[in-house]
Amino acid sequence: MNCAVILLLTSSCFCWTSALYSTSRPATKKPKYLIDPPACTEVVGRRGSTVTLPCMLRIKPNQYKVKWTKLEPGHIGPENIIMISNAHAFKPYGRLGPRASLRKAHAMDASLILRSLQLEDGGKYRCELINGIEDDNVVITLRIEGVVFPYQSEDGRYRFTFHAAKEACSQQDGTLATYQQLHRAWMEGLDWCNAGWIRDGTVQYPIINPRPVCGAEMSPGIRTYGPKDKDRDRFDAFCFTSQTSGSVFYVSGSFSFEQAGRACRRQVAELALVGQLYAAWHFQKYDQCDGGWLKDGSVRFPINNPRKRCGGIPEAGVRSLGFPNKTTHIYGAYCYR
Ligand SMILES: *[C@@H]1O[C@H](CO)[C@@H](O)[C@H](O)[C@H]1NC(C)=O
Repeated sequence: MNCAVILLLTSSCFCWTSALYSTSRPATKKPKYLIDPPACTEVVGRRGSTVTLPCMLRIKPNQYKVKWTKLEPGHIGPENIIMISNAHAFKPYGRLGPRASLRKAHAMDASLILRSLQLEDGGKYRCELINGIEDDNVVITLRIEGVVFPYQSEDGRYRFTFHAAKEACSQQDGTLATYQQLHRAWMEGLDWCNAGWIRDGTVQYPIINPRPVCGAEMSPGIRTYGPKDKDRDRFDAFCFTSQTSGSVFYVSGSFSFEQAGRACRRQVAELALVGQLYAAWHFQKYDQCDGGWLKDGSVRFPINNPRKRCGGIPEAGVRSLGFPNKTTHIYGAYCYR
């Protein structure tokens, strides 16, 4: 009983934050055959983990099918079906199908199990009961737990078209962040005075402390430039990543970029990607007060316990020393294995 109360309270807290900012809440009628989940139920999982998206029957019709679909707002074309099942068997479909199965914990259970979560799995999922007369559906939100990081080209500020930004995130073990992910990161402290692409093709920047160079006259919030020309306009990128299967470690030394790469290979590892360093900083609370080379040629270090002698910035974060001359011999190496 206590447990149920706590669960309900937690989901109504989530509901409050997401309901305030969500733009399209599907207006669904009260289901007859399915049990309506508590308002705005959100399931949370990290990359690589397994989640269960709940769907329970209230009444079992004689003949029925259950269909699970991933909703893709703005997507034109066939819907993204994951699974269709009847009382005896189920058949997986599409990109998500191979990682999906039905839980069938009891006769009324139509919950979907999704394994090996990937960065782009976040979003809304629909469980639909089809019995030919009255169809019912409930919608469940899956959130991938992760971290948003701003990313700039080695060539300087504002060099990425939308497509280049997408590619840059993927090269750093990430994906372009969604608006919801950027918004959450802003609430958790992301303050960044450079505009970057996000997944919907708009350009934004999150500000907590308004200051002269980034619109001091406006209140804190996510500033938007709106949709931009994906082929012509150039900005930075906001990437999103989540838990990694390997881990990041520091090798101390005074390396050039090339020597840093060799230092990692001696440890049977590779220079870490920016996303991997952010994931270690976020999930493992990795803290190391030494600049080290990363695979993209940048030098960074992760700080969870801000202190004067480590950059002097009062907030936790991954600090960047930009892209120094690769022959500079003063940094260590961040390796990933
Ligand atoms: C890096 O530094 C070396 C030695 O000072 C110099 O010869 C080289 O031109 C520099 N490279 C770049 C890209 O600035």
